[in-house]
Amino acid sequence: MCAAPRNRLSRRRFAQALGLAVLPGAGAGAGAGAGADVARAAQRARVTIRLSHVVARQTPKGLALEHFRERVRVLSQGEIEVLIYPNSLLYGDEDEMQALQLGAVDMLAPSLSKFGPIGFPEFELFDLPFMFDATAQVHRTMQGAVGRELLDLLSRQRLLGLGYLDNGFKHMSANRPLLAPADFVGLRVRIQSSRVIAHQMRALGAKPVVLTFGETHRALAAGVVDGTENPVSNFWTQRMHQAQTDLSLTAHGYLGYAIVVHQQFWQYLEPADRAVVEQALAESLAWGNAIAQQENDEALAALRASGATRIHALDAVQRQRLRHATRGVHEALAARIGADWLRRMRGAAAAAA
Ligand code: LMR
Repeated sequence: MCAAPRNRLSRRRFAQALGLAVLPGAGAGAGAGAGADVARAAQRARVTIRLSHVVARQTPKGLALEHFRERVRVLSQGEIEVLIYPNSLLYGDEDEMQALQLGAVDMLAPSLSKFGPIGFPEFELFDLPFMFDATAQVHRTMQGAVGRELLDLLSRQRLLGLGYLDNGFKHMSANRPLLAPADFVGLRVRIQSSRVIAHQMRALGAKPVVLTFGETHRALAAGVVDGTENPVSNFWTQRMHQAQTDLSLTAHGYLGYAIVVHQQFWQYLEPADRAVVEQALAESLAWGNAIAQQENDEALAALRASGATRIHALDAVQRQRLRHATRGVHEALAARIGADWLRRMRGAAAAAA
């Protein structure tokens, strides 16, 4: 948190207590424009909160976080300022979690897939192919015991999960239609750093290549990878259509986010400030979840209108074949995190259907 002098000192002490140097913060790390933003906010507000993410503003996550910034400003009557660094401007996938641990950034909204590599493989339950059929079903699962327990796990690393946020269902892209398992054979496919997603790609005969989100467009354009998966809002706003001739609407997996802070940052907030942040977040996550589908629909309409990428719908039989080809991925995750997690997640998803 970049805050009033008392809080700013606290953040430095926090990093020192961990025996770590404070990473280049908002002012130093984000370029002159961002540095000026920080300086202006620090003058105006009693408390500033630095929030970093990797996607464009015009996405479900980008918009929900802008909404959060505005609600915090209104509810705190301008005393708390949220500084948002979108599009990997401040930190990318690889270093944002470390920055949060160091106190160099205060709040993140990583995809659920990005918690596996930092020691929470249980979050990969959300990556399982064909686990969910509809977003409402995902929401009910998240709001239930399994969703709450997953967020509680974050305390193992002194993190605090403040809620979930949607993007939507992922689809597959490449320079050819991907309608059957045979279409994937030999493709190098960019994935997030999730072992479940890697296994899913191998099960389809593709070669998974882990790259940060920020690198993906370039890697597709350069032919370093042949394809990728993401909801259409990310595909469109990262201009992946310029590098992919075909998008197949596989809806094979879900992409959502957890809002996360470090416990130490949370404790530094005054109780009244914490209440403002909680209220603003609850409102903004509900708002974001309500607009996510529409954002993805609009991105799909824009993509169609651009004529840049051929769009392929899959029928039920084609989806069933992909489901069948990837079914072993579920049991492999169960072997890593415990069969009980998978049983409970499946039970929650079935009850929420
Ligand atoms: C990705 O890396 O593909 C996504 O997690 C990006 C995001 O945050 O939506």
